[in-house]
Amino acid sequence: MNIEVRDLSKIYAPSSVALQDVNFATAADTQVLVFIGPSGGGKSTLLRLLGGLESPTTGEIFHDHTQLDQRTAPLRSFRQKNGFLFQQFNLFPHLTALENILLPLVEVHGQTSANAEKTALAGLDRFGLADHSEKRPGELSGGQQQRVGLARAMAHEPELLILDEPTSALDPEMKAEVLEVIEELCESGQRIIFSTHEMGFAKAAADEVLFLAEGTVLATATPKEIFENPSDPRIATFLERVMKW
Ligand SMILES: Nc1ncnc2c1ncn2[C@@H]1O[C@H](COP(=O)(O)OP(=O)(O)O)[C@@H](O)[C@H]1O
Ligand SMILES: [Mg+2]
Repeated sequence: MNIEVRDLSKIYAPSSVALQDVNFATAADTQVLVFIGPSGGGKSTLLRLLGGLESPTTGEIFHDHTQLDQRTAPLRSFRQKNGFLFQQFNLFPHLTALENILLPLVEVHGQTSANAEKTALAGLDRFGLADHSEKRPGELSGGQQQRVGLARAMAHEPELLILDEPTSALDPEMKAEVLEVIEELCESGQRIIFSTHEMGFAKAAADEVLFLAEGTVLATATPKEIFENPSDPRIATFLERVMKW
């Protein structure tokens, strides 16, 4: 993937500056881009902006040399061909797990109901949710909802998959299973951008790591550089703390 960000800021309020003057360009051969850094650093905000789900306060975003412009129609098709998992999952509360995956396939992606159902059931099965297909989000645990969100994000075989802390709500065993699915996707050539606090997984899966803190990018580098020889002492301090236990 080729992503370039120029002078990007997102200011929700004077006291809530999520991103400030962010500049970076991914390496041309990056297929898996991972965001790490302390909570509140701006990871979720940057993922939403890169996905075209929110507009920046200032600055420009380019995907494969094409500018993402909130004011133009191509944004809709850009969103449609990508897949998202939000930090809060954003499932439709009145729909069952199955319908949450199936309906976008029919209504947004134009699949037949029969095809969409087959795809949705396979997705639920892949994440161990076959027995929960008829439950609404309110009847599912956080971890189950997160897996429905993942299945939904992947169901239409997106060009780019954007995952915000995809394992945050999962117990260790389920976390391992979901990380294995993400690893398979990475190995299959899927373009992915994800944020995570799983440092071991970030190191193993990423082609490139972007470290965000206090709304700025402290480094974009290979996992080896970030984890073995970080350029900024704040990165070293963060990694020492989170990887200590
Ligand atoms: N919708 C919003 N409205 C106001 N402030 C926000 C909003 N989203 C994020 N922020 C603020 O922006 C900063 C970065 O948040 P976020 O992008 O969620 O960071 P991270 O994902 O790294 O934890 C935080 O201070 C947060 O409170
Ligand atoms: Mg976040």
